[in-house]
Amino acid sequence: MTQRPNQRVLTGITTTGTLHLGNYVGAIRPAIAASREAGVESFFFMADYHALIKCDDPERINRSRLEIAATWLAAGLDTSRVTFYRQSDIPEIPELTWLLTCVTSKGQMNRAHAYKAATDANAAAGEDLDAGVTMGLYSYPILMAADILMFNAHRVPVGRDQVQHIEMARDVAQRFNHLFGQGKEFFVLPEANVEEDVALLPGLDGRKMSKSYDNSIPLFEGGAKGLKEAIARIVTDSKLPGEPKDPEGQALVTIYDAFATAAQREKFRADLRAGLAWGEAKQQLFDLIEAEIAPLRSRYESLMAHPERIEATLMEGAAKARAIAAPLLAELRQAVGLRSFAARVEAPAPVKAAKAALPVFKQYREADGLFYFKLNGADGHLLLQSQGFAGGREAGQWVARLKREGAAALAEAPLHVAEGVAAADVAAALAALQAAEAA
Ligand code: TRP
Repeated sequence: MTQRPNQRVLTGITTTGTLHLGNYVGAIRPAIAASREAGVESFFFMADYHALIKCDDPERINRSRLEIAATWLAAGLDTSRVTFYRQSDIPEIPELTWLLTCVTSKGQMNRAHAYKAATDANAAAGEDLDAGVTMGLYSYPILMAADILMFNAHRVPVGRDQVQHIEMARDVAQRFNHLFGQGKEFFVLPEANVEEDVALLPGLDGRKMSKSYDNSIPLFEGGAKGLKEAIARIVTDSKLPGEPKDPEGQALVTIYDAFATAAQREKFRADLRAGLAWGEAKQQLFDLIEAEIAPLRSRYESLMAHPERIEATLMEGAAKARAIAAPLLAELRQAVGLRSFAARVEAPAPVKAAKAALPVFKQYREADGLFYFKLNGADGHLLLQSQGFAGGREAGQWVARLKREGAAALAEAPLHVAEGVAAADVAAALAALQAAEAA
């Protein structure tokens, strides 16, 4: 399949805590590489509103978003190509969140993984199901949908745990389009991109590298020394130097792979099979990672020494992002009915439901000098035709009586039913007029 031009790719990173090597290998490095592809328009942002859901320590919130911004910039993000911003600098996002909240079914939110996990844990502990659950946690997927839909992203690279959220964003987009679009698609339906071939970096103990397992290797924290010490703690088997070692399934080897060329990988494996000592293997791993990370670290350190530069970069990013978000939001406000009263160009007023059309009596004078009346059906065709009257008054009195009494007055009235018209249709027409008269 050929790629459509200007695919929009968007991803957010929740700003709690500091980044580790797994974040770099699994998210930052591939995202930056992808942003350099032709035909791709990338949006990367700090999900700092999402961070507030998990953390109520202001210092930590602020520190983390600064560090994460510096990390992305140090890793080579080109902000002239990529729109890079803080979620909290885009007021259109929480505004869109509310518009979406109003069309999101609560039942669907009940099934969101993060919320389900919390209620399941509460149930297991015999607690109230919603104990400790904030509305922020509950509505988390709607804020995330707004992040994505605000910029009409086609693709959202995420971890597997986030796929459900992208599906929810699609649902709510579809619902909004359907309710308010009047044939127009305000929102692109986003697709999750789960990178199958980006290795999940194992941690020190071989499980997935994660802060919550306390098994991570810091990216910049602690400098080269910190990196070296962490690598020294990678768990290996207890084979002695000189003993042949099986490289497969070793966390150390998988981490090595994430930074090595194909040739280096092959040599590393061969050396281990030939008895390379674990201590020496760790030194080689350190050298390999350090070669890639050291230049980033020094850029990171100089950025961290000048937070005002990061601030300026992010404000430029926010301006770029808002140039897209604001017009779309203005359109959405119109669509849902939040419109200016003073606007000169009003959206066309909805056509009022036409009054139920009624049959009509018409009075007129013919060339013979006589006065006549007739009854036309609601659709305009002739139902009744009177005879001629000498005076208009007399004709008018018959019309009034027919309106009042309906079909009951028919027998006496000096008129005839038009050709081909059923008596029942005449009766129905007169009944409709009678009802209107009585109303
Ligand atoms: N929820 C995501 C995470 O925890 C972060 C995030 C917030 C995000 N908004 C987003 C990711 C929009 C992709 C798109 O990883």
